[in-house]
Amino acid sequence: MINIIVFCVFFTNAYGYFTIPGKCPENIALQEDFRIADFYGKWYQAYHFSSDGQNLNNCSTLELMTRPSGIYLNQSRVDRGLFHRYSIGKVEIPTRVEDAANLELTFAFKNAPRRLKTRKYPFKVLATNYNYYATIYTCQYSPLIDKHFMYIWILSRNPVLNMVSKELSMKPLQQFGVNDIHDKMVKEDRSKCAPKYYDDVPLEPVTFRFPVPI
Ligand SMILES: *[C@@H]1O[C@H](CO)[C@@H](O)[C@H](O)[C@H]1NC(C)=O
Ligand SMILES: *[C@@H]1O[C@H](CO)[C@@H](O)[C@H](O)[C@H]1NC(C)=O
Repeated sequence: MINIIVFCVFFTNAYGYFTIPGKCPENIALQEDFRIADFYGKWYQAYHFSSDGQNLNNCSTLELMTRPSGIYLNQSRVDRGLFHRYSIGKVEIPTRVEDAANLELTFAFKNAPRRLKTRKYPFKVLATNYNYYATIYTCQYSPLIDKHFMYIWILSRNPVLNMVSKELSMKPLQQFGVNDIHDKMVKEDRSKCAPKYYDDVPLEPVTFRFPVPI
């Protein structure tokens, strides 16, 4: 019974989350000769696209960190103008040089049920010039309902992305076949980035929210 309830909850959520018909786009061109060493330092999210239309926070930043156990990505954000929160994912470095831009993030949840303990999501670098902009996307496919979810980050080294960088960063998006995707990019609100509360433990990422592949 519990299983059925759990399944129904997942299933109903899946309908809101996976909205684009078919599989994840294939053969998307990624940044050639991607150098992760040059990607360190703070990135501000300037625009984003979440295919389920959810805009959950403001003031998002991304930053790589090195720990003894590997390279991690710190995604931080301000929720509802009140809470400063972050999520930490381990960056899986591709073994083949040709795949350098084809990164993956693994999130670990110690207290979650066994099959939800680790979650892996693609994190593909479409384009970057390291000093001004970066375009990254992730995609999750549900075979059960034959639809996918996509999230795109347009990142900027400065809180404001200049016009030329904006144009360059949005160029790769044409490959996705989403109508008027440029107009659907949501500009990040940076007017209230000093929230009242700070959470000092990592929380779930909001850029990929579906925990299990179904
Ligand atoms: C993650 O980034 C945020 C914002 O820069 C920072 O406040 C937080 O301390 C960072 N978390 C870790 C574990 O470094
Ligand atoms: C983002 O910022 C705007 C303006 O401050 C605010 O109205 C909105 O609620 C914020 N959204 C989230 C999800 O924090």
